[in-house]
Amino acid sequence: MQKRKLGTQGLEVSALGLGCMGMSWAYGPTDEAESLNVLQRALTLGINFWDTAEVYGPFKNEELLGKALKKNSRDKVIVATKFGFIWNEKNEINGTDSSPAHIRKSIEGSLKRLGTDYIDLYYQHRLDPKTPIEETMQALAELVKVGKIRYIGLSEVGPSTIRRAHAVHPVSVLQSEYSLWDRGIEEKILPTLRELGIGFVPFSPIGRGFLTGKIANLNDLEKDDFRQNLARFQGENFEHNIKLVKMVKSIGEKYNVTPVQVALAWLLHQGNDIVPIPGTKHVHYLEENVKSVDVKLPQAAWDEIQQLISTFEIKGVRYPESVMKFVDKSE
Ligand SMILES: NC(=O)c1ccc[n+]([C@@H]2O[C@H](COP(=O)([O-])OP(=O)(O)OC[C@H]3O[C@@H](n4cnc5c(N)ncnc54)[C@H](OP(=O)(O)O)[C@@H]3O)[C@@H](O)[C@H]2O)c1
Repeated sequence: MQKRKLGTQGLEVSALGLGCMGMSWAYGPTDEAESLNVLQRALTLGINFWDTAEVYGPFKNEELLGKALKKNSRDKVIVATKFGFIWNEKNEINGTDSSPAHIRKSIEGSLKRLGTDYIDLYYQHRLDPKTPIEETMQALAELVKVGKIRYIGLSEVGPSTIRRAHAVHPVSVLQSEYSLWDRGIEEKILPTLRELGIGFVPFSPIGRGFLTGKIANLNDLEKDDFRQNLARFQGENFEHNIKLVKMVKSIGEKYNVTPVQVALAWLLHQGNDIVPIPGTKHVHYLEENVKSVDVKLPQAAWDEIQQLISTFEIKGVRYPESVMKFVDKSE
């Protein structure tokens, strides 16, 4: 698999990463044995960039990756994890904490669960309004200095937070939502990253599964599936939004490319500084997704896709307010 550089500090990863969240959290039933197969198969296919977080489970997803890491030599995998959310006894997220003391506690837990003595890329999961980003970055810089983490990332923050953070210690990666149906980062965030030489990792690159066209309606999903709360998946919005997927599908069919492959290839086509991390807990989906790296479409097809997404109006916000309130709105 081709490699891509993220940031200018030396981080290099496979052009496509693997989102591991759904293996333990958020998207319905989980199957540990199959997830371990996915992780192993990913490595065989050359996908070495695994994305997890302390809060996925909580803790379970890092523990799962720890099991997979045990079977492989540590340096074969680029492990990215995240700190900064806090939750109640029902495991419901109820705040953020990026204070230096909390970071020092979180890193020890993550290292232990992952069974490693260093994390390649350590992201702040969401900005903590109570802790100035400068204090958070200083604490992370200390972790770099002692070798517990190699590179620093941020997630879902705006341009001025990115600039303030980067002034304290180089940020290598920003991770935020970006896909055919969510291009909110294009106007201000992506240009800021490019100016500062920071790499970009799009999460939910296939619209949490919607852009595959394989979800018929919400009844296909379990009652406690996170997507039940998302406006874009509801009733009339679903019926409207699926038209985009059908049009993408018909463009892809001319070149023997599936909708999910178009969605991922389009992201890869946006620049060499972009590494999508599609999530799956199924080997056969992984095998479909990995082929997106080799998709080559003529310029006319890219133009057609661009025209389509620029004119198609997606219905429904990407997050309910209870989740959106954690996203940094700094300009
Ligand atoms: N920083 C953040 O705040 C944040 C937020 C969200 C996600 N993330 C990270 O980003 C990763 C990816 O995002 P995501 O998981 O939310 O969304 P996604 O990658 O857009 O979509 C994942 C969904 O698509 C399905 N899928 C994948 N490939 C498929 C295929 N070929 N055919 C049919 N269905 C397919 C998966 O099904 P199965 O699971 O059933 O295989 C899963 O339900 C996560 O795993 C997580 O690591 C980060």
